[in-house]
Amino acid sequence: MPKHIYLFFGPPGSGKGTQSDRIGKDFKLPVISTGELLRHEETIKSALGKRVAKLIDQGKLVSDATIHELIKQRLSLKDTAKGFILDGYPRDAEQLKDLMSMLKKTDKIIAVEIKIPDKEVINRLSGRRVCDCGATYHIVYNPPKVAGRCDVCGKKLYIRHDDKPEIIKKRLVDYKLASGPLLKYAHQAHNLISIDGTASVEHIYEDLLKRLENQE
Ligand code: AP5
Repeated sequence: MPKHIYLFFGPPGSGKGTQSDRIGKDFKLPVISTGELLRHEETIKSALGKRVAKLIDQGKLVSDATIHELIKQRLSLKDTAKGFILDGYPRDAEQLKDLMSMLKKTDKIIAVEIKIPDKEVINRLSGRRVCDCGATYHIVYNPPKVAGRCDVCGKKLYIRHDDKPEIIKKRLVDYKLASGPLLKYAHQAHNLISIDGTASVEHIYEDLLKRLENQE
């Protein structure tokens, strides 16, 4: 059985994290989000975390070399043996080249692109609330049971520093600039699954699950 590697592409707020978490549970595969890995480093105040905090808050991309170290270390863990899901990585042509150098020819790559219009990106991210445990909510589309508190661990929810309108716009511009070659590659080399991200979380999930199962 080849190792299955799922790549989730999409602009900020398109629902990559929301959908990849659900698919990860179904397929019993770890979800590796470079954004989450970096925020974890910030939370534990590691040297790397301190170095990247300002960049993330300003919506700037972290260097490819730093991301390489982070991903290499994460992919060396045993739980990736049967495959894994990548959310938010690779982010540019250099990271794509880097990822390919870490994979085997026998690995099966399945790429997913979630599309949403720019206006929806702002709506989604300005209403997003997150918890340190990794859970994500939306004040309108996916509210927690108790306002401001995480359903999973009860901790206080907060707004990500990079979810301010002016920073969201910058992240969106950067995504558009860098994603062209990645999507072209995914379309040409693999069967790129394109998803309309404006539907409900449930609808997208069911559609995605069906289409991923057809890839088996
Ligand atoms: P990262 O954390 O990867 O941010 P992102 O790619 O901008 O994506 P988001 O996490 O904002 O959105 P998402 O698509 O996961 O949406 P979500 O499911 O949360 O990166 C953050 C930063 O880290 C970067 O800016 C950069 O600085 C750095 N970084 C990370 N990776 C890097 C890399 N590889 N190289 C260099 N730097 C890197 O959903 C959003 C909201 O919408 C939620 O509130 C959710 O509840 C809601 N929602 C989801 N789906 C729906 C739906 N269908 N209908 C209604 N609401 C929905």
